[in-house]
Order: sequence, then structure tokens, then C-alpha cells
Amino acid sequence: MDEKNKNHTKWMKRAIFLASLGKNTTSPNPRVGAVILDKNGNLISEGFHFKAGMPHAEAMAFSNLKKDAKGGSIYINLEPCCHQGKTPPCVDKIISSGIKEVYISIQDPDKRVSGKGIKLLKEAGIQVHLGLCKKESLNLNKDFIHRNITKKAFGVLKWAMSIDGRIGLKNGKSKWITNKESRSLVHSFRSEFDAIIIGGNTLRKDNPLLSTRGLKNPEPLRVVFTKSLDLPLGSNLWNCNKAKTLVIYDSSTANESYLKRIPKCVEVERVSSDNPELIAKILAKRGFNKVLWECGPKLATAAIKSNCIQEIITFIAPKILGGANSMNPLGDFEFEEMHEIIKLTDSQVGLIGDDICVKGSFKD
Ligand SMILES: NC(=O)c1ccc[n+]([C@@H]2O[C@H](COP(=O)([O-])OP(=O)(O)OC[C@H]3O[C@@H](n4cnc5c(N)ncnc54)[C@H](OP(=O)(O)O)[C@@H]3O)[C@@H](O)[C@H]2O)c1
Repeated sequence: MDEKNKNHTKWMKRAIFLASLGKNTTSPNPRVGAVILDKNGNLISEGFHFKAGMPHAEAMAFSNLKKDAKGGSIYINLEPCCHQGKTPPCVDKIISSGIKEVYISIQDPDKRVSGKGIKLLKEAGIQVHLGLCKKESLNLNKDFIHRNITKKAFGVLKWAMSIDGRIGLKNGKSKWITNKESRSLVHSFRSEFDAIIIGGNTLRKDNPLLSTRGLKNPEPLRVVFTKSLDLPLGSNLWNCNKAKTLVIYDSSTANESYLKRIPKCVEVERVSSDNPELIAKILAKRGFNKVLWECGPKLATAAIKSNCIQEIITFIAPKILGGANSMNPLGDFEFEEMHEIIKLTDSQVGLIGDDICVKGSFKD
């Protein structure tokens, strides 16, 4: 790589770093960072998008400008917007600034922008360079891109298990399998998500809080998917002071007389079947880019089968729980040949005290 290209990569990496500062807060928007150089290649401003409704990265960078940007360049990890949303189009700002070169890492998958922002810049006589640090940019906004393309929220499935592959005892008790460090890591990990999903049985058996313990404000939406609606009175999720709860139920099987057990502060939505895809779609429609499935084996297996899961993270404790196959983290996929099994990619392994954390992604 020559010196000039090295510098372009350096500035795009800076834009990606700035974008990552909005990691847990930009949904439904993407994470975007922008770096502006003057005509001599000196850094004169930078910005990032923090939250929907707040200025876009480019707008923040222009409002922070210390010098005239005329004849300069801008580095952005995502194509600039060209539509009037909650904030004005960034393309107009770039054009009116007199900037001569725009480095964009990836095109915006949002149909309102996709390619149109680049076209407008080119039509204004600006040189556009597309594709720098593409892999990093795709990774940073994989949830936003997934939601825009599939109209489903990007799903991560999480479970905790013993070294013999059990997620609880036969009687359903599963508190606590992993160590304290793993559990507090899960609290902060939840901050990355817009919603956390469980099934009705986990609600009945575990009565979980599903919160970040105040690390994220507002807390992720807690979602319960139920076929029966047979949910207990006095569940922790019915306390809406610190976090909101949504119950989604399958109206083809549920006993709707149980609705009276659910307090008014809890939102309820009916769907026509038990296909988990409906949840991923409902949450995507709400602008949720990334959701965490913390359900037991039945719903987890159904979620994988309906392509709602893009990544898995498991915490494995050096303990033996023994017991029944029903306490496996996943149910039967009825694979008969090794070529049918699911192989995860991009796997990562880490140690948390004496627990092991394993992550992996499903192939696109
Ligand atoms: N160690 C861990 O990480 C971990 C995590 C979560 C759960 N668990 C354990 O897992 C056990 C519960 O397992 P589970 O599999 O029954 O989990 P679940 O999370 O309750 O999921 C199953 C429930 O989801 C609802 N559901 C809606 N659509 C469904 C579909 N298409 N397929 C399957 N279920 C659907 C049903 O609720 P209704 O019955 O209300 O109709 C069903 O009973 C508990 O003992 C819990 O402690 C362990």
C-alpha cells in the first residue's frame, strides 16, 4: 500500500471508530462517523451519529468545523443520506461546503438512499471513492443492513450451560449455571440490544428480569412470545417502571381470557401463528436493528429454523448438571448426515473466570 492509500485507510478507520461510539444507541439508524480534511490533507473536523433524531455524523462534523472545508475531503463509513428525515439531507451539506472528494466505505441499504446519495454527489462534480475498509463497515452495521434487506431484526441467541450441555435441572431450575463475572457480562451485553425475547415457559419457570441492571436507558424492550397466554400473575416482567414489556401471542391457540392477568402497562400484540419470524418482523417494523433471544430450547430451535438467528453466544460452566435431554440448549433438527449440520463461522472463544464463552455466526 502506498503512502497516499495508507492515509485514506487511516482516515476511514478513524470514521469507523467514531461511528462505533454510537454502538448501542443509534437504532433504528446506522452507526456513522465522519472525518473532514482541508485541501492540504489536515484534519479539520469530525463527528458521529449518537442517537436517532440527533444530528447525523456529517452534520455534526460540519458544525464542528474549525476551518473552511472548500477543496477538502470527507471520509464516511456509510453513503450520506439524500432524503429529508428527522434531520436535513447530508448530501446537500457536503455539496454546499465545496468539498472536492468524498470517501465512502459502503452504500446505504436503505431504499430511500441506496446509490442516490452517491449519484447526487457525482452530479455535483464531486469525486466519489467507494469501498475503502468495506469489511469493517459491513461488520459494524450488520444489524442495520440485515433489517433493511430482510425486514427482520438481526437475532442473537444466547444460552448458558454446563460442560455436559445442560441448560438447567430436570425440574427446570437453572439459577445459576455460570459464574458471577459471566452474569454481569450478560447484563452489559444486553445493552447492545433493542429487545430481549423469551417464551412463555421461561417466564413461568425463571421469572427473569431481563434487564441491563440500569446500564442502558431506556432498557431493552422485554418480549414474551406465547402460544397459550397462560402467563402467571405477579411476574417480574409485569413491573414496567424500569423497562417496558410486550407480550406477543398466537391468537390461533391462545386462551384470550388469560389477557386479564396481564397489567395495563404491558403492551399486547396478537399474531396469527407461532412462527418466530413474526416476532422478528414486528420488532424490525418498530425500528429495532438487533434483538437478543434468551429463550429455552423449544423457541430457540423454532427461531433458528425460521432464520431469525444470525449469531449465537454461549457461556459454558465447568459443572455437570446431568439429567434429561429435554434440558439441551436446542431441540432436534433431525439431521441424518454430517453435511446437513449447521456449521457456524467467525467463531471466537474467550475465558471469563472459569467459564468459557463461545460465539459464532450463521452463514448469510
Ligand atoms: N440456561 C439458559 O440459558 C436458559 C435460557 C432460557 C431458558 N432456560 C430454561 O429453559 C426452560 C424452558 O424451555 P422452553 O423451550 O420451554 O423455552 P421458552 O423460552 O419458554 O420457549 C417455549 C415457549 O415459547 C412459546 N412459543 C411460542 N411460539 C413457539 C414456537 N414456535 N415453538 C416453541 N415455543 C413457542 C410457548 O409459550 P407458552 O407455553 O406460553 O405457549 C412455549 O412454551 C426453562 O427450564 C428455563 O429455565 C434456560
